[in-house]
Amino acid sequence: MAELMRLDAVSRRFGGLQALDRVTLDIGRGEILGLIGPNGAGKTTLVNVVTGVHRATGGRVHFEGRDITSFKPYQAARAGIARTFQVVQPFPELTVHENVTAAAMFSSGKGGLREARAFAAEQLEFVGLSATADQPAATLTLAMRKRLELAKALAMRPRLLFLDEVNAGLNSAEVEQAMGLINQIAGTGVTIVLIEHLMKVVLSVCSRIVVLHNGALIADGPPSSIVSDPHVVEAYLGKKYAQMAAQAAGNP
Ligand SMILES: Nc1ncnc2c1ncn2[C@@H]1O[C@H](COP(=O)(O)OP(=O)(O)O)[C@@H](O)[C@H]1O
Ligand SMILES: [Mg+2]
Repeated sequence: MAELMRLDAVSRRFGGLQALDRVTLDIGRGEILGLIGPNGAGKTTLVNVVTGVHRATGGRVHFEGRDITSFKPYQAARAGIARTFQVVQPFPELTVHENVTAAAMFSSGKGGLREARAFAAEQLEFVGLSATADQPAATLTLAMRKRLELAKALAMRPRLLFLDEVNAGLNSAEVEQAMGLINQIAGTGVTIVLIEHLMKVVLSVCSRIVVLHNGALIADGPPSSIVSDPHVVEAYLGKKYAQMAAQAAGNP
């Protein structure tokens, strides 16, 4: 699989805390890569570093062959990298449509407002939020705000999309809907990194999974090898959970 992004010994320190510890990782074009690990493992920090929200304190990040290590968020967005936020953060007083239009404007750097508004409307249609387009974003339910996050990310026309716990707090029907959308997005050729706590979801959509623990990458492989990896079981899954997950992945 052709390489889209490469992290080379990427580190991030916050004071005395090593939030990312020399993470080396290839992300292949067209894959749905699962990124899992316990709370505090460094998953969100990894997204923040590759999207320019936080500076790496060590290592390099390449995207489509370019060194983007010191890119600012707007540069990462314009290069084709988008992300959703774990804690959803729309502009509450702007309408749903205005929020997505702002995202489209942020990433394009060219084109007019009219074009951005039209493209934003298409994204709202895609995520099923057209009916709420003119409401203030603050009026949306959590599940709708998660879909708004998706629409905002898509409005940036990404080639690489990081989804940071888009299913957290959703009920099972809402999770199913969200996964349907994610599969559709992947079907359009967008590479996806899915940060997700629901193993059932990770195992059903990801062809490859990487595991972070205390900032370090402790496993990288197909779902079947991840769920039976003793380090992953120890650090994250727990023995009982591993059995369930192994069954879900079709292992005896
Ligand atoms: N801006 C920050 N300042 C200080 N510490 C941070 C900051 N962001 C994250 N951390 C710390 O880095 C570690 C990894 O956090 P995070 O990447 O959010 O983990 P995860 O997303 O895997 O739950 C945690 O110990 C967290 O408290
Ligand atoms: Mg997180």
